[in-house]
Amino acid sequence: MKNNIMTDIHCHILPGIDDGAQNPDISGALLLSEQQQEVRQILFTPHFYAHDMKVEDYCRNRAAAFERMKETCDRLGLETALGAEVRMDEELFDIDFTDLRMGDSRYLLLEWPFLSGTFPLWGEEIVDILLRQGLTPVFAHIDRYDYFFGDEERLYHFLEKGCLFQVNADSCISRRRSPRVFELMKEGLVHIVGSDAHNTDKRPCHLKSAMEGIEKKLGPNTAEFLMENADAVFHDREIDGLKKPRRKKLFGIF
Ligand SMILES: [Fe+2]
Repeated sequence: MKNNIMTDIHCHILPGIDDGAQNPDISGALLLSEQQQEVRQILFTPHFYAHDMKVEDYCRNRAAAFERMKETCDRLGLETALGAEVRMDEELFDIDFTDLRMGDSRYLLLEWPFLSGTFPLWGEEIVDILLRQGLTPVFAHIDRYDYFFGDEERLYHFLEKGCLFQVNADSCISRRRSPRVFELMKEGLVHIVGSDAHNTDKRPCHLKSAMEGIEKKLGPNTAEFLMENADAVFHDREIDGLKKPRRKKLFGIF
């Protein structure tokens, strides 16, 4: 990790815009915690729900919320960009994704639904639309869905299509969840770690702690690969060195 700049590509730090920081004081404390975790680049990704907001209104609110924190970001030496965590929604069939991308990049942070617990088959059509538009979907916190976290075949399927997978820093330091996260990292099925920070008490930024744990468990190359990928998203570079994971043998056929 020595030469890598720490980048957080997923967080809810902007004030009063979603279920993350509720006011500029909490946002300021979260920004400070990001800086203390050695994060130098942050993509702000407030929730976007297509069924109850218009892209124009969302962007206006996001810009206003950012304006309130810009000075603090500058003072802390943080480079910033605006993105969105786009909830998978049937309304997305009719939407222009341009202003929802992560910065001006080709990447779009996509959050799958978790209420039903079952994989929404129509979601793949949305993924195909994004890919056809030249966008790369980054699946947010795959560690939070049994239908991804527990199903490598499904992850391989979307990896081969060109999707990327993010896990939350919390899961990398959780005694219960980290063994599975590390297994997926070894398989090449995790590309980015994000903080998904929402507040200072229950969901703060644990990025550095997570990267230290990963480095200890899987070695510096894995930690560097993950940080490099977050930097690539921030600067709209292609992600290098994607492992082409070998599928597990199914009935001995391949
Ligand atoms: Fe999030």
